[in-house]
Parts: sequence; C-alpha cells; structure tokens
Amino acid sequence: MCGIVGYIGYREAWPIIIKGLHRLEYRGYDSAGVALMNGGLNIYKKAGKVSELEDFTQGVNLGGHMGMGHTRWATHGAPSDRNSHPHTSGDDNLAIIHNGIIENYSSLKETLISRGHTFKSDTDTEVLIHLIQDIQEQTSVDLREAVRIALNEVIGAYAIVIMSKDEPDQLIAARKGSPMVLGVGKNEYFVASDASPIIEYTKNVIYLNDNEIAYIKRDELLIKSIDNIVQTPYIQELELKLEMLEKGGYDHFMLKEIYEQPRSIKDCMRGRIYPSEGQVQLGGIKEYAEKLKNIDRIVIVACGTSWHAGLVAEYLIEECARIPVEVEYASEFRYRNPIISEKDIVIAISQSGETADTMAAIEIAKQKGATIFGVCNVVGASIPRASHAGVYTHAGPEIGVASTKAFTAQVTVLTLMAIYMAQQRGTITQSKLVHLLTELDNIPNLIEKCLLSNEHIQEIAEKFKDSRNFLFLGRGSGFPVALEGALKLKEISYIHAEGYPAAEMKHGPIALIDEEMPVVVIATQNSSYEKVISNIQEVKARKGIVIAIVTEGDTEVTQMADYTIEIPEADEMFLPLLATIPLQLLSYHIAVMRGCNVDQPRNLAKSVTVE
Ligand code: AGP
Ligand code: GLU
Repeated sequence: MCGIVGYIGYREAWPIIIKGLHRLEYRGYDSAGVALMNGGLNIYKKAGKVSELEDFTQGVNLGGHMGMGHTRWATHGAPSDRNSHPHTSGDDNLAIIHNGIIENYSSLKETLISRGHTFKSDTDTEVLIHLIQDIQEQTSVDLREAVRIALNEVIGAYAIVIMSKDEPDQLIAARKGSPMVLGVGKNEYFVASDASPIIEYTKNVIYLNDNEIAYIKRDELLIKSIDNIVQTPYIQELELKLEMLEKGGYDHFMLKEIYEQPRSIKDCMRGRIYPSEGQVQLGGIKEYAEKLKNIDRIVIVACGTSWHAGLVAEYLIEECARIPVEVEYASEFRYRNPIISEKDIVIAISQSGETADTMAAIEIAKQKGATIFGVCNVVGASIPRASHAGVYTHAGPEIGVASTKAFTAQVTVLTLMAIYMAQQRGTITQSKLVHLLTELDNIPNLIEKCLLSNEHIQEIAEKFKDSRNFLFLGRGSGFPVALEGALKLKEISYIHAEGYPAAEMKHGPIALIDEEMPVVVIATQNSSYEKVISNIQEVKARKGIVIAIVTEGDTEVTQMADYTIEIPEADEMFLPLLATIPLQLLSYHIAVMRGCNVDQPRNLAKSVTVE
C-alpha cells in the first residue's frame, strides 16, 4: 500500500505533491509526509490524513522544485508521527519514502545496530536508508551505486524514492513488487504509485519494471536494472482523464461509483458483444480460442471482492461452458504447493492489478506452466503485465476503497468470458446466445432501474443503522452476492456481517437468529426461489427480521418479508449484476448514517501491495 509521489523540474514541487497525496490517499491514510529540497533537505510529517499534514505545515516555507511525499498504510510500526515517512539516514543526509515491506529488515537492523546505527522509528523502511548510508561509508561508492548494492541485499517488496542533501538535483526511484509510474515532461519528471498525481501535467508515462532503478534529473533520465544494465524505457500515453478522478457532485466517491455502474458496464461491453449475431469477441484472449476448446479445468485466484467475482464466474463458466472451475484465495493458493499444470488456465482477478497475493499466485501458476488470463481494471498494472492474456474491465478509476463498479465490471467481463468459452466449445445453442447477449446488452438499463430504489433503501437503512450484526443469505450465484453484501457492510460501517449459502444456515448460523437479527435474503424468482422461501420461513419462525431482494412484482416473498427491495426481472445468469446494486446502496447509507468515513474506512487500503 502507501501512496508515493515525487517531482523534479521547474515548477513548485509542494502543490504537485500535496495534490498527488490527496489523490493517492485511497492507498493508505495512517500518516502523510513530504521531503522538499529547499535550501537543505526539509522534512515534514504527521500521523493522520493528508489534511493534517497541510494543517501542520501552515506558515512554513514550502518552496522548492524537487520533493517527494508519502501517504502511509502501516505494516511495521504503529501509525504515529515518528513512524511516518520520509525516513532519514543516521546522518540525516538521505531521505526515503517506501511502499512495501523489507522482509529481512530485522537481521539487517541487528547488523546495523552492531555497527553503531541508532534508529528513530519502528519501521522496516528506516533500515533500508541506514543500509544505504552504511554502504556509502564502508565502500565510498557514490549514492547511485550504494542504492543499487543495498537493493541487492534486501528481500521483500518496494517502491522507493530517495533524496540526498548532497545531490539537490537528483531523485532516485526503484521498484520491486510495488507499483511505480514515471511521468515524463519537458525538463521535469514525476514519480508516483499510480498515474493520478501526474495526469494534469503530462500524458507520457513509463511504468517502471521490477528490479529497475531510475536516476532522475530534471533534464535526464537513466534507468538501470538492479544488475547495473542500462534499460531502454518504453514511453506510453495515458488514457486517464482528470474528470474521472473527481467526485462530480456526489457526497462520496463510493456513491458516485455506484451510480456510474450503468455506464461502466456499458464501457466494459463496448465492442465486445454483438447480440443480433449471438457473438462475443474478446481480442485479449483470442489467441487462446483453440486452447479453450480442450481445457479440463480453470482455476481462479483473487482476493476480497474480486474473489467474490470469481465465485460468480464459477457458476457462469460451469453453467455455460461446462468447464470445471476452482476458485481460490490467492493468499492460500500461493502457500500450498497447488496442483497446476500447463493444461490449466488460471484467471487472476484484480481491480488494482497490484494485489501482492494475487501477483504471487500468478508467479507460482506460471512456474508450473499454466496460462494466465488477467481480469483487471487498472491498465498497465503489474498483474495484466504478468499475464499471458486477459480482458480489462474498463470501469474507470475506482477511488472508494470499497469496491463497487469494479466488482460489477469484473462480473460483466467474466460473463463475457463464460459466453465466449461456450461459443468456442459449442455448449450453448445459437438462439440461446442471441437471447443471453440481448439481455446482457440491456443490463445497464436495468441497473438504472435498480438505482431508482435509492430512497426506499435509505429508509430501510435508517431502521437498521444501529444493528450490531447482519446476516446475508443467497443460493446459487446469489451466494457470492450475499458474501459481497456482507463484506461491503462490514468494511464501511464496521457492523459485523456474515454471508452464507441460504441452505447452510440451518447448520449453524440459525442459532444467531432472534428479533434483533436483520437477515438480508437474495430471494429473486429463479431456480432456487421455492427453496429460498423455505429459508425465509425458517428465519421468520425464529423472529428474525427479513429484508428481501425480490423480483419486481413478487407477492409471495413480499408477504413474508419485513422489507423488500425490488429488482427488475432478468435471466438468472445476470442476477449478481442486479442484486448487488441494492446491497451496495444499503451499506453505503448505513455507513453514512453511522458517521463512518465511507471512502476511506479505517484500517483498509485500496490496493494491498503487501502480503
Ligand atoms: C473491496 O471492497 C475490498 N476493499 C477488497 O476486498 C479488495 O477487493 C481486495 O483487496 C482485492 O483487491 P484487487 O481487486 O485490487 O486485487
Ligand atoms: N513497510 C512500510 C511501513 O510500514 C511501508 C508500508 C506500506 O507500503 O504499506 O511504513
């Protein structure tokens, strides 16, 4: 996690850095800090949000044309002023900001202490900057070489930027496992964890690769590998637009992103579906069309909400393409010697494209010869680059830490992939393909309709805002929707919530039900409708309160449930896309009513680049 931004050039650095930190705050908000080259190496840092750093620096001279800033998501050392980045070397000549974890920091620290170093923080990061200083002192190499040698000694993940008091015209940046983008201007350069701090200044960017070090002066850029080999950078043009990063009149990014879903799903399908011909075209995986005809198995790896999208895909792919699917938490998969062969396709799902566990799972699957398909939102991120092929979700930047539009875009892409696979394997008739794609094409309009329930959902939220627990139930592909509903509620409102397959309730969770327990049930009219009705009765018989998501015009569940929220009728395959919308709104309103920070929930970060 952590957001990193740096600038060197002819403009004032502070305004660029502070604006960049606000944009990157979704990545972590435990503390914020800057280093500015301004008649010396001046550092200002403070626990808390970026706005607290702004208050803290009121009245300070923040001039200078080179600097760097950091917004932290703590891994080593509590969120506090002293653990905030930038960290400095023992002689205060060098400063570093870091995103990632130095895994062998403890042994390095011991050695450095035995050599007389003393530390001012509890972070792993500070060890790295002391190590660089130590190498310089021991070997008299220049800073560039000392950084390179130090990076060869550390184990772990990093994106770092380094400044030196003695070299007021140079930034050094490097990455391994954590993202880093360089913005290339005229006589100026930018570095950042993602492109958001850069876009209003330049569209030309270089995505730094793992094990690369960039030596940056205002009129000169040299990129070398950690083995000291000069690299030829590939400059590409950004597609991101500034408006995409702003709230556009909504109170929160999360609400804006919920309301963007009709558009984001349309964007995600554009140029990919041809309803009247019953055809899906996915250029990103086209070259594997033949392979898809003969594979025995698909393994999906992901974390959090993206893992829920994977569970939806399991239903869709098995149903449409008749390929067995296994869905794995990337964090578990990577540590258990998984059975994978070159016959397998592994689909890695990730909004950010930077999740460390998912990235590691890909590496393992690749070593075992599998073909990797990435389903990612952030173009050019590490996961799409590490994949053999893939399909972008094109949902646009998602700023709210709780994923909403990225989830429905993932489900849309996975639906397209399931249909595409069915097309290749001949497991769906042409008329069914036409029917499904015609309905899918209309999903954005149906989502508009779901959004019309907003006020009604707000009223329901008012009734349950003080509940301490929630249960979410669903069957079939309604089960991952229930899991996602529960995750949304717990992450932004801090209410304990669990998602369960409705029929599993009687094997344990039913013991929790009493008159205090709201139970959200996905009870739309599909193949498991009758069964879900029985589950609702089981809840009602124990005095639980039922909030049911039902199909428009439903009467049976409506009579039983305490509250109902209608969604339009659609083919069962598209249930997750529609039923998710009211759950997003419900958790949003409850969190707002509880006074929670919806866009930046406590302890979380948008992009989990540490394991
Ligand atoms: C979603 O609301 C979460 N904040 C989180 O579970 C997220 O989905 C997970 O960290 C995976 O992220 P990714 O999609 O960027 O890989
Ligand atoms: N490990 C560093 C710290 O705790 C950086 C954390 C991160 O990148 O999330 O400060």
